[in-house]
Amino acid sequence: MSEAFTKPAVDNSRRTWLIATCAVGGVGAVGVAVPFASSIQPSERARAAGAPVEVDISRILQGEKLVVEWRGKPVWIMRRTPEQLASLENIDAQLADPNSVRTAVPTPEYARNRHRSIKPEYLVLVGICTHLGCSPGARLNPGPQPSLPDDWPGGFFCACHGSTFDLAGRVFLHKPAPDNLAVPPHHYLSETRLLVGEDAQA
Ligand code: FES
Repeated sequence: MSEAFTKPAVDNSRRTWLIATCAVGGVGAVGVAVPFASSIQPSERARAAGAPVEVDISRILQGEKLVVEWRGKPVWIMRRTPEQLASLENIDAQLADPNSVRTAVPTPEYARNRHRSIKPEYLVLVGICTHLGCSPGARLNPGPQPSLPDDWPGGFFCACHGSTFDLAGRVFLHKPAPDNLAVPPHHYLSETRLLVGEDAQA
C-alpha cells in the first residue's frame, strides 16, 4: 500500500481547512495525477475514484472543519468543541430523525448515537444536502441570525431551499430535506489518521 499524500491549505476567512488528498494505494496527489489517471484502464480508474481516502486529522483545531474529497463528494471532518457537543442535547423534539434510524440514507451503526460519530469530538459527514444536493453552509454560532430561528443551536444551513441541520448533521423538522446528512463509512487507523470510505475490518 502506498502512503497517502495530503496537501493542506487554509481558507482563513472561513476557518475551513481545504485539503487535497490522494486515495490510499492510489495514483498520487490530485494535482499531478491527471496524465497518469487518463492513461490507466477504466476499471483501474473507477477503483481509484472509489478508493478510501486517508486523512491526517492532527492539525484540526477545536471548532474547525476540514474538507476532503471522496468519490467526488465533499466530506467534512469537524472537530467539535465541548459547547458544540452540548448543543446536541435537548433538541430531539425539533428533529426529524434524532436517533438516525431512517434507512433512506442509512447511518452506520457506529454513528447511530446523539453525536453521530465514532469519537464524540470528531464529526465525519458527506457535505451534501439530502434534498436536492446543494452543499449546506456552516452556521456554527448559536443564537438569532438571518434565515434562522432565534433559538438556533448552531449547525448547518442549506440556502437552496432552507433546510437546517444541527452540529451532528441531523435535519430539523418540517424542512425540505427528508433525511439527516450522510455519515460515510470510515474508521480510525490511529489517533491522528482517519480512513474515509471504508468501515473497520471485522
Ligand atoms: S438542496 Fe438543500 S434544501 Fe434543497
